[in-house]
Formats: sequence, structure tokens, C-alpha cells
Amino acid sequence: MVSPRKPRHLVVITLVLLGLILGAAGLVQAKLGKEVMEAKAQMAAYKVFKQKCLACHDNIADPERPGKTRDGWTIVVKYMDDHYVNLNDQEAGQIIGLLYAIRKGEEKEPG
Ligand code: HEC
Repeated sequence: MVSPRKPRHLVVITLVLLGLILGAAGLVQAKLGKEVMEAKAQMAAYKVFKQKCLACHDNIADPERPGKTRDGWTIVVKYMDDHYVNLNDQEAGQIIGLLYAIRKGEEKEPG
């Protein structure tokens, strides 16, 4: 006699496995999507940076200079905004994020 529990077990196992597979696929997709978003955001930020900063500077994120913390880059960008170039909050944020991403200070960051 076939036990009545067996088919139900199979269904449960199949559902669990399906759930795991779909879940994993979803995670991979979400991660890829996030990376694509980040790359796009960084390209957009670079465009602003090029337009606003590279008119006067050859290279700010100079690998020969020490990197800066996010606060350090914020001070620089704020100073430039006050003296040399007009940035709105969004542009300033994009530039700070970009410079920090490519030239992070090695010291422990405050924020
Ligand atoms: C209109 C020209 C001009 C623009 C645009 C400009 N800067 Fe500057 N920047 C200067 C000058 C001139 C100095 C040096 C004198 C000073 O510090 O005031 C300087 C100094 C700096 C320094 C410190 C010196 C160094 O090389 O480490 C950094 C960092 C910097 N700028 C980053 C930026 C960033 C980031 C932007 C874009 C938001 C920007 N600058 C836009 C003219 C400019």
C-alpha cells in the first residue's frame, strides 16, 4: 500500500525547492540590477563632475595624493561651490559620492 503522506511530502519538497530556486534567482537579479543602477549613477555623476570640475582641474582624484573621507570630499566640494563653481545639492552630492567612491581615504571614516 502506498502511504498517503508520501505524495504530499513530494509536493512540499518540490514547492520548497522551487521557492529556493526562485528566491536565489530573484536575489541574483536584484544584485545585478543594483550593480547596473550603481554603474549608471556613477556615469551620471562623472558627467556632472567632468562638466563642473574638470574645466579647471586636470585630475582631482589623483592616485598619487592621499584619498579623503566623505567629509573631506564634502569640504572640498563645498569650498569649490563657494568660490569657483555653482552646484546645486544634487550635483554636489553626486560629485562627493563619486570622488569618495574612487578616492576613499584609508583612515577610519566618520560617515
Ligand atoms: C573655476 C575653476 C575651478 C573649478 C570649476 C573647480 N576648481 Fe577646484 N580649485 C580651483 C583653484 C584655483 C584651486 C586652488 C586655489 C584654492 O584652493 O582656492 C582649486 C583647488 C582645488 C582642490 C585643492 C587642491 C588640490 O588639487 O588638491 C581640490 C581638491 C579641488 N579644487 C577640487 C575641485 C572639485 C571637486 C571641483 C568640482 C566641484 C572643482 N575643484 C572645481 C579652481 C577650480
